[in-house]
Amino acid sequence: MNNPARYTVTSALPYANGPLHIGHLAGAYLPADIYVRYLRLMGKDVVWVCGSDEHGAAITLKAKKENTTPKAIIDKYHHLIKDTFKRLKIDFDIYHRTSEPIHYQTSQDIFLKLHEKGEFVVQESEQYFDEEAQQFLADRYITGTCPKCANPNAYGDQCEKCGSTLNPTDLIEPKSTISGSVPVLKKTKHWYLPLDKYSPWLEKWIDEKEGEWKINVSGQCKSWIKGGLQPRAMTRDLDWGIPVPLEEAKNKVLYVWLDAPIGYISATRQWAADNGKNWELYWKDKETKLVHFIGKDNIVFHCIIFPAILQAHGDYILPDNVPANEFMNLQGDKISTSRNWAVWAHEYVDELPGKEDELRYTLIANFPETKDSEFTWNDYQSRVNNELVATLGNFVNRVVVLTHKYFQGIVPYVNTATLTPWDHAIIDKVRASGKLVGESIEVFRFRDALNEMMELARVGNKYLGDQEPWKLIKTDEEAVQRIMYVALQCVAGLARIMQPFLPFAVEKLEDMLNIPIRSWVNADEEEWIAPGTQLGEAQILFTKIEDSLVAEQIAKLEASKAVTKSYDAVKETIQFDDFTKLDIRTGRILAAEKIEKAKKLLKLTVDVGFETRTIVSGIAEHFTPEEVIGTSVSVVVNLAPRELKGVLSQGMILMAEDEKGKLYFVGNDGVGSGFAIR
Ligand code: MF3
Ligand code: ZN
Repeated sequence: MNNPARYTVTSALPYANGPLHIGHLAGAYLPADIYVRYLRLMGKDVVWVCGSDEHGAAITLKAKKENTTPKAIIDKYHHLIKDTFKRLKIDFDIYHRTSEPIHYQTSQDIFLKLHEKGEFVVQESEQYFDEEAQQFLADRYITGTCPKCANPNAYGDQCEKCGSTLNPTDLIEPKSTISGSVPVLKKTKHWYLPLDKYSPWLEKWIDEKEGEWKINVSGQCKSWIKGGLQPRAMTRDLDWGIPVPLEEAKNKVLYVWLDAPIGYISATRQWAADNGKNWELYWKDKETKLVHFIGKDNIVFHCIIFPAILQAHGDYILPDNVPANEFMNLQGDKISTSRNWAVWAHEYVDELPGKEDELRYTLIANFPETKDSEFTWNDYQSRVNNELVATLGNFVNRVVVLTHKYFQGIVPYVNTATLTPWDHAIIDKVRASGKLVGESIEVFRFRDALNEMMELARVGNKYLGDQEPWKLIKTDEEAVQRIMYVALQCVAGLARIMQPFLPFAVEKLEDMLNIPIRSWVNADEEEWIAPGTQLGEAQILFTKIEDSLVAEQIAKLEASKAVTKSYDAVKETIQFDDFTKLDIRTGRILAAEKIEKAKKLLKLTVDVGFETRTIVSGIAEHFTPEEVIGTSVSVVVNLAPRELKGVLSQGMILMAEDEKGKLYFVGNDGVGSGFAIR
């Protein structure tokens, strides 16, 4: 949509059942923050809504696990999450919650309207019921044996060991997690949204978006539609959620994926009421551009189910774009809440106060815009040190410091007729960057936008370095005035362009430059800071990240990894033949010594019965050489030899690792060396 009258921007409502991690930020919140900051700077009419998603089994399960109530869980996390966003300057117009009365009313109204229009298909089916607890069981509340891998603790919707998607009725020997009793199948009635019926228009609509939407998004939608859409129940037999507003649906609540996206609408209503606006314009006017920022796991809900609801209702606009991001990994592994493999946003702001922009910057530079991406602490360090400190911060600091040194901090006057082609090139570059950055943001290419911003800093920094005003100050003050004038224009223009990305640094820049930085760089501007302006004091924008900080953060992550090893999913099934390929034998350690310059490695001499082997083992941080001599061990003797730190290792010693990361030898009960282990 070109030049819409207004924008409604949404970010996925986080479940209020846990803190935010960097993957959340990079997925749905920071991208939207950049987009909205830019739109506001362009003077657009925009509302950006978000809030807590407080219903669904995700919440009740967490409450059960922590032996408390859903209400206690959501209150705790609602405030933590809201506060964390604020501390990172992720500035929604409203951070609402789905437990508010206005949200109940909005959700029930929409449900009723669909009901009255006859859009739902009401159907009876059999579902598991806990007779002791007298309630139907959500999929997650049923455990049993996985029919595929025999894991005895599989859930009704999924086996976490083998990863297969399940139906509750697939489980062998199902058990209710509420009472422990065996659930029975019982008939129940639900209200289904006939997605199959909507499939033709959905397909046409998605096709029209081809080329405009990101291909990861339209691709996923198309494959869902191609796979055949099924009716989906919009009601659930649960006691946590928004009651279905029908006499005949006692004890039923709305499906969480019906109520949650409606949360965007309720939040907008609340915001409008608070700010004297008309909410309907933001949801019902064809001139409004609706954009949903989400992570890829939410695509089907935002591109198929919610649009189907809005369309079936009839009064609402549909999303213009859904720029879903892929996932961000962390240090070579998937981010995982249960395994505590995450950089938690609230811990980051607690542990590294004043470094909020550094996190924003590194995340933006690594946004998973088209494919999964990765955050590493080493990359964080090098981006901060090489880009923010050495380029951007250094440029800005030098310009302000030199202006103080040469001109008492006053922006010099110049006769613009004396500007050289190079000077003009710098000023043109500021304008060009403003345009390029803006254009990239408009099409959700935030990484490109950030790179272009940094390119301007690089160009400015190079200009200052090459012009060398410090060499001219004794002989040609006029030239220095000209150079500093141009450099200051570049800094002031850059400051404007930094706004969507680095709001903390921009606040400091307002003080340093002593001008408001509140608008974008316009196509017809020649000057961004007026001659005669008295600058404020120079401040350091960014400081170097030391190696020790990186090491600490990595150690913290590794520690959590060790603790959770026992939860790791079982590896892929292998055949008996695969197993017999391994030649494992009993052995005994005869000698052990440290390997120079290798903190983790011990060089072991091992008796494996038929010969004596040299084996390098990564256990030096757990055992001294003295204490392992004489230990009975199990050895893989047919592993291809491998050179480690200059020593040829011929085999592998088996170790067990407990939940704290402590290592144990897998011994052999003193049977003697060289016997096969099968
Ligand atoms: N709470 C959901 C999640 O974290 C997202 C809800 S988005 C909304 O995956 F549209 F439903 F609000
Ligand atoms: Zn399984």
